[in-house]
Amino acid sequence: MDREILNPRLRDEPPEAALEKILRPQSLADFQGQSELKEKLSVFIEAAKKRGEALDHTLFHGHPGLGKTTLAHILSLELKAGFKNTSGPIIERPGDLAALLTGLSPGDILFIDEIHRLSSVVEEILYPAMEDFKLDIMIGQGPGARSVRLDLPPFTLVGATTRVGLLTPPLRDRFGIQLRLDFYQPAELALIVTRASTLSGATLTREGALEIARRSRGTPRIAGRLLRRVRDYAEVRADGVIDQAVADAALLMLDVDTEGLDQLDRRILSVICEKFLGGPVGLETLATVAAEEAETILEVYEPYLIQEGFIHRTPRGRVATPKAFRHLHLIPPATLSSLIEAEDDFAPTLFD
Ligand SMILES: Nc1ncnc2c1ncn2[C@@H]1O[C@H](COP(=O)(O)OP(=O)(O)OP(=O)(O)O)[C@@H](O)[C@H]1O
Ligand SMILES: [Mg+2]
Repeated sequence: MDREILNPRLRDEPPEAALEKILRPQSLADFQGQSELKEKLSVFIEAAKKRGEALDHTLFHGHPGLGKTTLAHILSLELKAGFKNTSGPIIERPGDLAALLTGLSPGDILFIDEIHRLSSVVEEILYPAMEDFKLDIMIGQGPGARSVRLDLPPFTLVGATTRVGLLTPPLRDRFGIQLRLDFYQPAELALIVTRASTLSGATLTREGALEIARRSRGTPRIAGRLLRRVRDYAEVRADGVIDQAVADAALLMLDVDTEGLDQLDRRILSVICEKFLGGPVGLETLATVAAEEAETILEVYEPYLIQEGFIHRTPRGRVATPKAFRHLHLIPPATLSSLIEAEDDFAPTLFD
């Protein structure tokens, strides 16, 4: 680690955490990829600034590690607005949320991560707060209890979720801006790792950057993590320069294969292909046999395997594609394609 680059304020933190803060993009211009989303967001930011109003409530949804929290921070920097940070499971009681809301200043951003995990009693408080900037609180108990309505300053609620399907419709409808983050293209991830290596003082060739980018499952968080480990390898086993050959050797050592799949990805594919002859396999069964949490498979692993065409999600469970069999050096059974075609028109959102 090149300590020179570290902000003195951050020197007491673990090096990786400090580096993480430096690498986090601070403006929309620094944020690579997601071009449509950025275009929309910059228009909304500009319009809110021109009118001198708080930005409309904004929901970011997408798979883990794609940049939702980063965008929430960028919003506050671009709007020069205060930033309060919390998350769905932390806000246990209505009073917790009421305390947060009454502490806001005009124009502030209240960021609620994992917003799909808010309890319904807390959500109820949020509806009038989002819609009319009003807070309804109960004073007293029993027959003498009465409800008091307080004014809140205009603020922007920014929600983030990996499971947008779990948001209740009334909550979701109250977000005037809803933006979905998609997996990144290798060229975009290559720019991200190149920027990260420049900032952290690593030496990375174009081909080295592209090799890491191609094998990062379309996800900036994974690209950043792989870059750090490949850099360790380059410093110890090579002359410090990360070119394509060094990146490839390091990634193989890390068990990240040529498609960017790791051990658990391959275990999931192998369970479906070998134990269940291509499927269908229900999520719970798959999780038990692969020895992993169903939620982790659903949220973290499966989306990329589906996007890259290794598995399909069907009403009866997960089905492996011929690509999955070929990746494991297996021969796909003849019945596979008819099974996939028969299930193909299924809308996967039912499982969200
Ligand atoms: N577009 C981008 N350009 C550069 N770096 C990015 C970009 N998007 C994300 N990152 C980096 O990737 C990492 C993960 O981003 P972030 O924490 O914002 O993801 P997230 O969507 O909030 O994930 P989770 O769902 O797990 O909370 C951070 O280190 C961030 O700096
Ligand atoms: Mg986050």
